[in-house]
Amino acid sequence: METRILLPKQIEEAAALLKQGEVVAFPTETVYGLGANALDTRAVEAIFQAKGRPQDNPLIVHIGAQSQVQELVREIPPAAKLLMERFWPGPLTLVLKKGGLIPAVVTAGLDTVAVRMPDHPVALELLKSTGFPLAAPSANISGRPSPTRAEHVFADLKGKIPAVLDGGETGWGVESTVLDCTVSPFRLLRPGGVTLEELRTLVPVQYGTSAGEPAGEQIPRSPGMKYRHYAPEALVILVTGSGAAAKIQELSEPYLSRGEGVGVMTWNERAYLYPDLTILPMGPLGDLEALARSLYHLLREADLLGLKVLFIEGVAEDKLGLAIMNRLRKAANNREIST
Ligand code: TXA
Ligand code: MG
Repeated sequence: METRILLPKQIEEAAALLKQGEVVAFPTETVYGLGANALDTRAVEAIFQAKGRPQDNPLIVHIGAQSQVQELVREIPPAAKLLMERFWPGPLTLVLKKGGLIPAVVTAGLDTVAVRMPDHPVALELLKSTGFPLAAPSANISGRPSPTRAEHVFADLKGKIPAVLDGGETGWGVESTVLDCTVSPFRLLRPGGVTLEELRTLVPVQYGTSAGEPAGEQIPRSPGMKYRHYAPEALVILVTGSGAAAKIQELSEPYLSRGEGVGVMTWNERAYLYPDLTILPMGPLGDLEALARSLYHLLREADLLGLKVLFIEGVAEDKLGLAIMNRLRKAANNREIST
């Protein structure tokens, strides 16, 4: 199949493909999504097929107006309503009790559904034009970093999907925050653009493994979190603490002496600390927004550079740093050294 790249002025063509039950990749304010009619089982099955996504990993349903959520869920707790009013459209996905309209394939058989309203003009226009909600995971091959540019989607899914709607680089660069609103207090399942601190200004939120929860839950609360994600081909090692530079230099030695490629993701101002390594610049020191935006692009770069090993300097785990460290740990497959 030929994969067409469509421009925002061709939204109607993208909408027409979706109406025919095809899948189309489209930009959101977080990362590119691979969308299909959320009410059409066969269309949604094509998403799993194109991505090579495990069937037990449910999808987020994207809506174009806040009022659409009512048709998809059984109930909306008042505190969830408050969050919608404050953060939609935006990078916040709410897990709610599923209504009858959503087919089982979307939610992987769970009795809950994840819903969000994206804050991107192209996504909103597309949703308006189709009239139906779009089920959409990130538009990458399963296990690869999420796409933040149309070219990333193309690199992963060329020949497997009919079209990519190119809206340029996405804004946030990390996926939405996922919040389970079916438990009390609400539980953060995946940190993202809307931070834990921001959520907690409005509602109580639990995060992390709470005591008393069975260790091996039968159905993981956010099934997607158990899979390896965002992984480059290189061996990735996350290094935190004030001794990071010295540690990274020490660990690089054996690779360098064998002539193997060694990369380091570091803040621009710290690049001078690594004269012998390939620098993947994280942006101006401490600028978490800039780092989030370039994170997945850098992980893809690491592959293109054919690095043997990639060291990443960790960041503080507050605000957007919580989402960034969550993704970095996945990329590193939990290989982490604290200094
Ligand atoms: O920013 C985003 O959220 C992007 C854009 C395209 O919207 N989408 C995205 O989708 O990241 P995906 O499929 O890559 O990640 C969705 C996450 C997975 O971890 C999945 O397990 C979880 O949301 N999820 C979906 N439905 C769920 C449900 N009913 N209960 C718990 N977790 C759910
Ligand atoms: Mg994903």
